Amino acid sequence: MIRNLIQQVKEEFKKTFKKEPICVFSPGRINIIGEHTDYNDGFVFPAAVDKGIVAAIQKSDRGSCTAVALDLDSTIEFELDKLKPSKKGSWENYVFGVVAEIQNRNKIIGDFYIIFKGNIPGGAGMSSSAALENSVVFGLNELFDLGLTKHEMILISQKAEHNYVGVNCGIMDQYASMFGIKDNALHLDCRTIQSKPYKIDFKDHQFILINTNVKHTLSESAYNDRRSACENISALLGIKALRDATEADLEKIIEKVTPSNYRKALYVIQENERTLKAAKAIEDNDLERLGKLIYQSHAGLLDQYKVSCDELDFLVAQAKKNKHVLGARMMGGGFGGCTINLIARTEVNGFTETVSKAYKKKYGKECSIYFIELSQGTHLVK
Ligand code: GLA
Repeated sequence: MIRNLIQQVKEEFKKTFKKEPICVFSPGRINIIGEHTDYNDGFVFPAAVDKGIVAAIQKSDRGSCTAVALDLDSTIEFELDKLKPSKKGSWENYVFGVVAEIQNRNKIIGDFYIIFKGNIPGGAGMSSSAALENSVVFGLNELFDLGLTKHEMILISQKAEHNYVGVNCGIMDQYASMFGIKDNALHLDCRTIQSKPYKIDFKDHQFILINTNVKHTLSESAYNDRRSACENISALLGIKALRDATEADLEKIIEKVTPSNYRKALYVIQENERTLKAAKAIEDNDLERLGKLIYQSHAGLLDQYKVSCDELDFLVAQAKKNKHVLGARMMGGGFGGCTINLIARTEVNGFTETVSKAYKKKYGKECSIYFIELSQGTHLVK
């Protein structure tokens, strides 16, 4: 599938710009557990997948840059010295943001052409944005020999998201997309930005994703609000980030925070714990335990952190009805997108059929089932 995508993007590039491009594949990600912990300096457990963005890129001699989003059939031209954020929500902010952040680091790039296309639906909670940012920074690094390390590249991608897209995201998505390892999930410490790979080869179980195909509005402002709430509580506690807090610490300032923010901070502290326990469960090959932690994560995201939505809760409730689904939860920022389900291989067909029907009946629209393979991070493709 990716091969076709690469072929298509490359052909389009040659047709449009009459040049041979270099091509980059940058994957989306799943996250087993550890949601909204990354910007609290905590732990997350993502993996890059075999779906993502292909970008074809080459130098331009036209005195300007051209970027084409093939999926959207949209083309823009821009000049490197006149960059500023475009209208909120527009795709070019991902490209502009990366370019601007590279320039902020005093790295010199020249004009370029870029065409990209992906096979992760936007809003699925699978980080198509990070995949795009990483493909641009990786491509430019290669094209202009910028000498950026992968760590520098993901920080550029993250800053692009903060300053151009307007989402104060953590580092999980960019990290997973860039550093993914085939067949492995990465237990990432978001403070040190170092991870430990865990081989995911469960004998009788697998992860599948179910997309609600909804993205509720306000998800971006809600995200930023939660991040500031966490930071305010850390400041009150006199610590760098909630990763450094215990439930007992939080208890001490209970009078000083609103009940709703108290619950949010409690969620973060508990989710961070769960993420550590999940790594241990995988080490012990105890998938029942892993599954329970995944269900608990969803409950926290729903009741405490308040980032779920009706459609996601419905899918998780469906999963709970089936004893062969060991765990399920919403994945990513929330307010729509996918659930991740840990399910017995033999039950996948039956379960997905039942859920699809029930979802259609309840919401009058389809959910989508995704099978994923854990894959290599951002890389050049031939
Ligand atoms: C989005 C952000 C990530 C992370 C998740 C929630 O995907 O980009 O940094 O915070 O939400 O875990």
